[in-house]
Amino acid sequence: VSERAGRQRTQIYLDHAATTWPRPPRVLDAVTRAFTEFGGSPGRGAYELAIRSGRALAESRATLASFLGVADPHDLAFVSSCTAGCNLMLKGLLRPGDRVVVGSMEHNAVTRPLGTLVAAGVIVDIVSADETGFVDPDAVERAVRSAPTRAVVCQHASNLTGTIQALGDLADIAHASGAVMLADGAQAVGHVAVDIGALGVDAYAISGHKGLLGVPGSGLLYLSPAIDPDPLVEGGTGVHAADHDRMPPERPERYEAGSADVPGAVGMAEGARMLVELGPEHHILTAALTRRLHEGLLELEMRVLGPEPGVERVPVVSVVPPGGDADRLAFELDRTAGIACRSGLHCAPWAHRSCSSEGTGAVRFSLGWDSEQAHVDALLEAIRALTG
Ligand SMILES: Cc1ncc(COP(=O)(O)O)c(C=O)c1O
Repeated sequence: VSERAGRQRTQIYLDHAATTWPRPPRVLDAVTRAFTEFGGSPGRGAYELAIRSGRALAESRATLASFLGVADPHDLAFVSSCTAGCNLMLKGLLRPGDRVVVGSMEHNAVTRPLGTLVAAGVIVDIVSADETGFVDPDAVERAVRSAPTRAVVCQHASNLTGTIQALGDLADIAHASGAVMLADGAQAVGHVAVDIGALGVDAYAISGHKGLLGVPGSGLLYLSPAIDPDPLVEGGTGVHAADHDRMPPERPERYEAGSADVPGAVGMAEGARMLVELGPEHHILTAALTRRLHEGLLELEMRVLGPEPGVERVPVVSVVPPGGDADRLAFELDRTAGIACRSGLHCAPWAHRSCSSEGTGAVRFSLGWDSEQAHVDALLEAIRALTG
């Protein structure tokens, strides 16, 4: 599909949980400035362009740390995606014989690295979520107490149901038994206030191009000072080059081998600034839109996955259409109304099993920074026309 054709077809974009689109103009401006004004490689040159790059990277890290409640910006590493962050926190830390307790709503960014670790001798104990996608902390506590546990792993919010997990409680449960808490924050950041320090997690992986409003290829991984996972990628770090033949212990260099993605970092920082300026009113507005969408879908007799209306969720609402043909509904919404949404298993087969939707998959509608009531109403009207 040419760029022109794509523009003509997509009238309404409801796939923000996959990636933000359109990118906010101010984020694109900031990224363009980084490409055009900070040409050098940070930490790898004493000339002005490289120094400006280094400064932009440090400022972006500080802005993002403050936005996310991270006390020491050095504990926040730039990574290429939430997937890369999840791989690092899991494969860098877990060793054969370690036992992990994990919720059943996880994305493949977590389940697949865990699958590899299981083959290497890590023991994985899955705690099933209830039908609304919620992982009961009491069930996690029972699982953690039943055998020595190295880590509790859980997402902050579900990309299938929008369910928000009780991450702070899970971190307390993990720590009470001497385990660490590792979290996938891909769907939470930008949609709920995330204070990593207050949550008390030991690792938190973030996608740059979803709710944080940055560009693809960017992400963040918070690692608390209490853990020291092995880096998965080794190479140049600019500074500390002569001191070590292995990756240096210093953060963030330990986890940032290779030339830095300055435009990606600058984009995330600009996204964070924009979210701060939008303020809590924006969350309230999006929550109201999400509820309108949810209730409208129920009126159309769709089976809506996840919590009841009125229970807080991130702006993700998935349905199993009557007859169960999710792909057909998504295809027809695009064809007849130019509505972009995502059908299938959403890289989360475990989660579909928990929601009894593994046989059909679902159609997911996810709202973002530019969503408005007219989008929701047009979607409901299009579904009514297709299914009525
Ligand atoms: C819950 C969850 N975790 C991880 C990811 C992966 O994010 P990224 O695209 O940044 O690798 C996604 C993306 O869909 C997700 O929804």
